[in-house]
Amino acid sequence: MPTGDSDHQPDAADRHDNHGDDRGHGHGHGHGHGHGHGHGHGHGHGHGHGHGHGHGHGHEEGFDWEAMADSIELDGVMVLPLVADVLAELGELLHWSQVGHVLDVGSGPGVVTAALAQHAAYAQVTAVDSSPQMLARAETRLRADRRVSRRVRTIAADLDDELPALEPAHVIWASMVLHHVADPVAALRRLYRRLVPGGVLVLIEFAGPPAVLPPDDPTLLAGSWARLEEAAAVMIRERLGLDPWRLDWPAMLAEAGFVDTKERNRAAFHAAPLAEQARRWIVKHINRGLQMVGDRIPAADLGPLQDLADSALARRDLFVRAERRVLITRRALD
Ligand SMILES: C[S@@+](CC[C@H](N)C(=O)[O-])C[C@H]1O[C@@H](n2cnc3c(N)ncnc32)[C@H](O)[C@@H]1O
Repeated sequence: MPTGDSDHQPDAADRHDNHGDDRGHGHGHGHGHGHGHGHGHGHGHGHGHGHGHGHGHGHEEGFDWEAMADSIELDGVMVLPLVADVLAELGELLHWSQVGHVLDVGSGPGVVTAALAQHAAYAQVTAVDSSPQMLARAETRLRADRRVSRRVRTIAADLDDELPALEPAHVIWASMVLHHVADPVAALRRLYRRLVPGGVLVLIEFAGPPAVLPPDDPTLLAGSWARLEEAAAVMIRERLGLDPWRLDWPAMLAEAGFVDTKERNRAAFHAAPLAEQARRWIVKHINRGLQMVGDRIPAADLGPLQDLADSALARRDLFVRAERRVLITRRALD
């Protein structure tokens, strides 16, 4: 599977998320909060955003966790080429054969956890998530994978609290989760203490919108795709009560004690003609987007976007380029 890296530095202010990733984590969605608790306090480290959201712990009434988990699973599959690139690069910082414990926090349904466990071939791998539904998916997936089943475990825990006692980790992977926590610096400090000295944290967060259409596609040229992505990004900001594209992760990592932080935008690229899973991701992505933004985009955009969703399984010219902000950082050597 070809992958692409964009070498430009992230410019979070002007970028918008692949909102598909974040349509499925159980926040708000207009029908209440997971445990009924909202975090009303700001981070207190300069970016000035209070959190008005509670965490999706799977208790939302009427919340279709099964459908959401399907989406998050597909999102995970779409970024696997990027995960492979990062894992290969980490080989410059550590010896995978000596990695004894990998912690995947906010693991969701375990797609990336499985990839981590396959790569860290001798490691115990722990998937942590606050959603029992997500963890049940992860369990099923990881148990079924004979390459990893004996070395993985799942733990239900909230990153806003102290994690249960675990052996120290050589690698912690935190993908598309830390913008959910009430106090990211406090959560990062707790994760720092879970690493061995010199251990590595990989933080993956929002970057630019996904691209799927060839340059001459009328839906792209008319601006409908961009308006859908922009409207979905606005809704994500509203739901989170902060702007996840503008979070100053390097500053927060430094405040939490991490050293040697390197940041880069990376992309996972799936070339045309797409495999069926990638086509299904496009269909879901557009349908979720249309559901989310409702009448926030011009009515004239709805038809072409729905046509795109309806034709995506048959089209041979669509590709997927999904972008993420990737920060690689370490616990200092004691
Ligand atoms: C968008 S999914 C990311 C899944 C996976 N890491 C990936 O990148 O494919 C976010 C996950 O974080 C979990 N989550 C959200 N807030 C959390 C918290 N405070 N503590 C632990 N997990 C949390 C959600 O339940 C969800 O499974």
